[in-house]
Amino acid sequence: MLTDQERAHLEEHIAHYPEKRAGAIYCLYFMQDKYGYITKPSLNLVSELTDLSTTQLDELITFYTLLRRRPVGRNIMRVCDSISCHTRGAKKVLEAAENATGKALGEIANDGSVTVLPSICLGLCDRAPAALINDDRVEGELTPERMRMILTELAEEEIKLSEKPDYQNIISMLTPQDAPAKTNEEVM
Ligand code: FES
Repeated sequence: MLTDQERAHLEEHIAHYPEKRAGAIYCLYFMQDKYGYITKPSLNLVSELTDLSTTQLDELITFYTLLRRRPVGRNIMRVCDSISCHTRGAKKVLEAAENATGKALGEIANDGSVTVLPSICLGLCDRAPAALINDDRVEGELTPERMRMILTELAEEEIKLSEKPDYQNIISMLTPQDAPAKTNEEVM
């Protein structure tokens, strides 16, 4: 799963802390970067490295919304549904996303291009309804029409064949526990 070099890197990172458990978040992010989400074998490995149980690690992952236990599309779009965005039409924007992808929130679009997730406040209330794409692109004043345009744009992005994961295969390999869920809380 990890190369000797990767494992040594994680062990070296953990060694900086007085307690191994302090390195857990770093290790979880590392595994997520490598596999796109935190797989069960990744969880077992981080448990072994940090002396935290898999249940304790699952609790950490549930708390930090940027960590994920289930696969996602090539892009992740977080759409705020907290109060400011809600009062300015976030519900309709999220419905437009579900209709455009043909999938419930939290699920991977059929073409693998995106997973749309509802999110708590993104700190962009002055631009409500707002969204964050791949943690670095901000979209504000969203409308259902703008949402459809963005999703089309993400679906049409050129992908090098070698970088394109086999999403249908990933989905077919999911255990019931790993099946994409509908809400952000369930997914993340
Ligand atoms: S309420 Fe939506 S960004 Fe703050």
